[in-house]
Amino acid sequence: MRAQWGSKIGFILATAGSAIGLGNIWCFPYLAAQNGGGAFLLIYLLCVGFLGYFLLTAKLAFGHIAQTNFIDGFQKVMDKKVSPWWGRIGGGLTLFNLFLVSSVYVIVIGWTLSYVIAAGKNLIGQDNITIDASLFKTLTSSYSEQLFWILSCMVVAGFILVKGVKSGIEKVSLYMMPLLFGLLVLMVLWMFFIPGSGKGFLYLLTPHWEQLGFSPQGFQWRQFAHLTLLAFGQAIYSLSLGMGVCFIYGSYLKAGSNIKKSALWVVVLDTLVAILASMIVFPAVFAFDLGSNQGPTLTFITLPFVFDQMIGGKIFMLAFFVLLFLGALTSLISIYEPAINLAMEKLGFSRWKATLSVLTINLGLALIVLASFTQKIHLQLLDKDLFDLFDYITGTYTMGAMILIYCIFMGWKICPRLLQNLHNNTPFFKRYFSFTLKWLAPFVLIVLFLSA
Ligand code: PHE
Repeated sequence: MRAQWGSKIGFILATAGSAIGLGNIWCFPYLAAQNGGGAFLLIYLLCVGFLGYFLLTAKLAFGHIAQTNFIDGFQKVMDKKVSPWWGRIGGGLTLFNLFLVSSVYVIVIGWTLSYVIAAGKNLIGQDNITIDASLFKTLTSSYSEQLFWILSCMVVAGFILVKGVKSGIEKVSLYMMPLLFGLLVLMVLWMFFIPGSGKGFLYLLTPHWEQLGFSPQGFQWRQFAHLTLLAFGQAIYSLSLGMGVCFIYGSYLKAGSNIKKSALWVVVLDTLVAILASMIVFPAVFAFDLGSNQGPTLTFITLPFVFDQMIGGKIFMLAFFVLLFLGALTSLISIYEPAINLAMEKLGFSRWKATLSVLTINLGLALIVLASFTQKIHLQLLDKDLFDLFDYITGTYTMGAMILIYCIFMGWKICPRLLQNLHNNTPFFKRYFSFTLKWLAPFVLIVLFLSA
């Protein structure tokens, strides 16, 4: 029998666990900081509310009807009257994204685990560790050290995954997600007591209109479009669209589940965490006058510097990296799950064998990416090492392409069936749902490609 979720809350927390990860806690705050704080937040909310939610609902419903892996799903819902190329291209792209993204994701989650340990040692005063730019540099230039952390994360993920959907993924999410929310809320409350943090809260909540394109010279379309596409890309990534995760998680749902409501929970929790994470990062950075214009190193270099000077900063630092690690771990296992399911259903592997195979392929790929990233071997394409290249290809092209294929299929071929699977549809919902799948999402995705 196919695996199924044990409870509704388990499903919601597992899906939220997939959605909440590095995208929310690492990327969102710096993207928002670089792009006008409140302005970015506003556009992001619109993207999630008018597009993201509907795409998530549709993909969960598609998986739920298909009840199979992401390659056979296309044929199964159409009673075989559909060209096998849908599965080959849509499913093939899914697999491609899944392995490319996971080989980068696993490296970054390795950094977070190493920071958890470093922050722990720092807290108990051991080793005289200072968590600063040089620590990050030493870590990211060492092949063997990163390999160690990658392997550690994979072993943890592997243990959870072999346990299965209900006793592995679901159970872990049931414990970890409440812990994550609790930590996050406590940390935000803490920030209110840091002198000078008010400026940061304010920056996050004030839309800087010029960043939205409203300048004294008139409305700047390009600026507005740029911001929208950035926010839409972030929404896709954050909601775990583009790698078959939602499809597979939906396929484990019991008959009669209320998908619309669950999807709403996931979207709300995911967005809330991105905002709360920013409510830690912004005030921290502003309280120490470090400026808003920092990129990816914000989390690993600037924040530790800030935490170090705060009251109770050492505990705070540990809590922050534990938070980041927990979020990333539940996302990582979700990235592996569609491939594991595929190996089980298409190749007849046991769960054990499927997990081992997927992790081995991922490890092989991660080793190559790591070698290129640390310049152990000279492997560059388009002037980028593989870490940046994979991130760029998937983020700019292939995830979008895959969602486009799914949208066209869901919108033009199975929209009525999807709607039948959703509860209490008002006529407006029906119209907007099919409009989004048929026109709006494909349009935005195509503009995204062209602008790239
Ligand atoms: N949503 C995850 C995050 O925010 C990343 C992810 C993308 C996970 C796609 C699974 C699938 O970190």
